[in-house]
Amino acid sequence: MQNINDFINQIHHADCVELMKKMPEESVDLVITDPPYLVNYRSRDGRVVPNDNNNRWLAPAYAQIYRLLKCDSFCISFYGWHKVDIFFQAWKSTGFRPVGHLVWVKNYHSKEGFVRYCHESAYLLAKGNPPLPKIALRDVLDWRYTGNTLHPTQKPLMAILPLILAYSEAGDIVLDPFAGSGTTATATQELGRKYIGIEMNQQYCNLARERLQKQKRE
Ligand SMILES: C[S@@+](CC[C@H](N)C(=O)[O-])C[C@H]1O[C@@H](n2cnc3c(N)ncnc32)[C@H](O)[C@@H]1O
Repeated sequence: MQNINDFINQIHHADCVELMKKMPEESVDLVITDPPYLVNYRSRDGRVVPNDNNNRWLAPAYAQIYRLLKCDSFCISFYGWHKVDIFFQAWKSTGFRPVGHLVWVKNYHSKEGFVRYCHESAYLLAKGNPPLPKIALRDVLDWRYTGNTLHPTQKPLMAILPLILAYSEAGDIVLDPFAGSGTTATATQELGRKYIGIEMNQQYCNLARERLQKQKRE
């Protein structure tokens, strides 16, 4: 088992389940992650999200996330509402306790069908009994379109920053095993925490690394 310091402030190009197995247990303060939603997503310009077409990775990934988190801490996970049963089963069977549900409201709709789809959602999952935050976040938050220039399902920085402020302290380690273009890592670096990002797609991994370097130079 390697030391956690070998992993920090890097975006690792790897399968997160395999890489997390090499990290020591109870070594991470907070997980914020945006996994594939299991919807076979394809953007208008043809970009896809690896592993969005199968759920083989899902239970093993959350089992590793749970193992890596320190006692009495949080995992905040976006999820695909269509497959909430599969996500919930993985979270609960590992030991996570849902303690909040966050909704971001978009001022546009990404799709129209039975309804206009204009929100994103995430669960606040507790490992053990974490203390209450100094300031409780509203569970309905605003969303700003990113243009998805770096990643087809890129999350806005403004969605992640308040989560880091509410659920971590300066110097904490924040892990995102499904890093994409590195939005969580970028927010983490901006707020003086240490990030660990893992991304299996080489192109998204490179974009995340460039984004973090650029932010550091500014
Ligand atoms: C929904 S996207 C994350 C987008 C990110 N939040 C952003 O703002 O750019 C999920 C990412 O997880 C990656 N992924 C899927 N399975 C993975 C695995 N087993 N290990 C590491 N990365 C994985 C995909 O390549 C994809 O980039």
